[in-house]
Amino acid sequence: MIETHLHTDILEIVLQNPPVNALGSDLRGALFGVIAAAQTNPDVKAIVLRGAGKLFSGGADIKEFGKLQAEQGLPELVDTIEASAKPVVAAIHGTALGGGLEIALGCHYRIATADARLGLPEVTLGILPGAGGTQRLPRLIGVEAALEMIVLGNPVSATRALETGLVDRLSENQSSLASDAIDFARTLNGPRRTSELSASAPAGVFEQFQATNARKIGKLDAPRACIEAVKAATELPIKEGLAKERDLFVKLLGGDQSKALRHVFFAERAAAKIDGLPKDIQLRPIGRVGVIGAGTMGGGISMNFLSAGIPVTIVEMQQDALDRGVATMRKNYDATAAKGRLTGEQVEQALGLLDPTLDFDALADCDLVIEAVYENMDVKKDIFSRLDTIAKPGAMLASNTSYLSIDEIAAVTRRPQDVLGLHFFSPANVMKLVEVVRGEKTAPDVLATGMALARKIGKVPVVSGVCYGFIGNRMLIPRQEQATALVLEGATPEDVDRVHTEFGMPMGPFQMADLAGVDIGWHRDPERIESLRDALCAQKRWGQKTGAGFYDYDERRKPSSSPVVAEIIEDFRQKEGIVPRTISDEEIITRTLYTMVNEGAKILDEAIAQRASDIDVIWNYGYGWPRHKGGPMFWAELVGLAHIVDALEQSRAQLGEAFTLSPLLKRCAAEGISFDEGARQ
Ligand code: CAA
Repeated sequence: MIETHLHTDILEIVLQNPPVNALGSDLRGALFGVIAAAQTNPDVKAIVLRGAGKLFSGGADIKEFGKLQAEQGLPELVDTIEASAKPVVAAIHGTALGGGLEIALGCHYRIATADARLGLPEVTLGILPGAGGTQRLPRLIGVEAALEMIVLGNPVSATRALETGLVDRLSENQSSLASDAIDFARTLNGPRRTSELSASAPAGVFEQFQATNARKIGKLDAPRACIEAVKAATELPIKEGLAKERDLFVKLLGGDQSKALRHVFFAERAAAKIDGLPKDIQLRPIGRVGVIGAGTMGGGISMNFLSAGIPVTIVEMQQDALDRGVATMRKNYDATAAKGRLTGEQVEQALGLLDPTLDFDALADCDLVIEAVYENMDVKKDIFSRLDTIAKPGAMLASNTSYLSIDEIAAVTRRPQDVLGLHFFSPANVMKLVEVVRGEKTAPDVLATGMALARKIGKVPVVSGVCYGFIGNRMLIPRQEQATALVLEGATPEDVDRVHTEFGMPMGPFQMADLAGVDIGWHRDPERIESLRDALCAQKRWGQKTGAGFYDYDERRKPSSSPVVAEIIEDFRQKEGIVPRTISDEEIITRTLYTMVNEGAKILDEAIAQRASDIDVIWNYGYGWPRHKGGPMFWAELVGLAHIVDALEQSRAQLGEAFTLSPLLKRCAAEGISFDEGARQ
């Protein structure tokens, strides 16, 4: 867990707990021991504390949270280090995060490599720095800088840390760090304790910070508690401030928001793992990517690769479509540059890697080709059979289809093992999610390469099996069906959307339909009106793009309730003989969100998703499910699967003939087990 070296009069303690030197109970125990021993060792004049491997420390061991030992130990350890009679220097490289930085704050001096990053990201886990961070950091660097780090959770660079006084000096790199720290320690006369400083707050600083960050703070408990704790640092003596911090920490730790956010942390990392693949699988080299189609999706997809420095050949059928596509990409890049997120030079560099062409044969050079044309199986089959004759051996062939069968597409090639789905979400240059679709015959190295490449371009990839709509969009289907049925039965589109936005979704089903296009998948016959959607489409209410959908839109796309839609709904009710009734918010939750959970359970049962938490990651990154509610599957377990089954059973009459409860959901509810436990049985 730790290694110690005595360099004449300086004791060097090296944390050794790969992969991130998490401060679990064993490591803490070892540190208590060695710090105590150093106090009575006459040979030791000062102590240097550093981390082995890639970083100083990633903080408390999050896996221990909720267990008793996590609630004790780290704060006491930081106090013990600070109380040391011999000066202690933290020598930081890589990152010092959370409890890692709090340990460093307990040290009397800090030295960091120039490329190190220091942060207190606890707020992103729904907690606050619980080992003195909220009390020591404002004392050391001032309230305003501390609020930025603690409440927003953003790490700072070593240079910024030097400016604010968080570190005392810099060392060039990891190789010079240990010896610089030892030399520095030798110059020190005694300890210098941060807790002995005082923190004062300029008038109105907390109110102003809260107001400036109101949107980010929203309904979250942790940022509020962080502010309260920092305020305590300015009002209370250290001991009482630490007690206040502890109180707030324990409350947050037991709350649902923190449970959900910690779930999301591990869910994201679990999603990167593919069941049944050897860890050391050889990836296929991807030097150039081909993209077929320069529309919104094709352009957005290309930008991801260009931004990551990977050349792209983009193919279109017509020159004007190609020109339009390239112009849109440039416009998007310029907009990013105007916001200061890219330099003009970076924009030119990215676009310099783009090779637009009408020549399909140019794809022969590419190691991966992604088809991004419209959703039509015949068109896709045609493209893939042409690709099969052109693409070089070993090239990966991907479709960006949102719904269609990758197996059917792969079957037209002589190399189905090289075919996979790469389902990007719109706008593809912004949205982080990619469903990496594993066809029946997709080779393991193709899947692994798809996942790795998606991560390389900054995406969050999740594996999905083949089914209509894959994981995310398949779950949208019952939600949309029920949302529409609810409107016919008596709710308004506004009611349904409000319940979703109050829940924390960025938009509700009808707002989403208006944004995506109400006409997507419409049969295009204005005379054939079989659904509410048909009625809207027949009147060219195709959503935001036509200025009218389920809502009316003004020139600035600001929505308002539509009397026309209310009339269309009323006509429909009359035609169907439906007498509208009052629909409660609870019923909207049951019939839209619980039905989605039910679909998720079916997806898990069919092994389309590898694990329940993968479904959660898809909803976090693809559809804006609020992270502090974990994801639909985690949330369902929190609400109680038995309660969900009961509510769905009770709504059975409204849910209609076609509705079936997932056997997995029923079993898990009956046995009181989690989705994953149920799926493993
Ligand atoms: N506790 C337990 N496990 C952790 C961990 C932590 N603090 N940080 C990372 N891990 C695990 C990950 O789950 C992952 O495990 P698997 O390989 O089994 O999936 C492994 O370590 C490697 O992590 P990453 O894949 O994230 O590695 P990376 O190199 O990309 O990033 C990192 C490293 C920047 C440290 C990143 O892991 C990270 O941000 N960790 C969390 C940091 C954090 O939030 N710390 C605060 C903890 S709370 C705290 O300290 C509370 C307190 O005040 C008392």
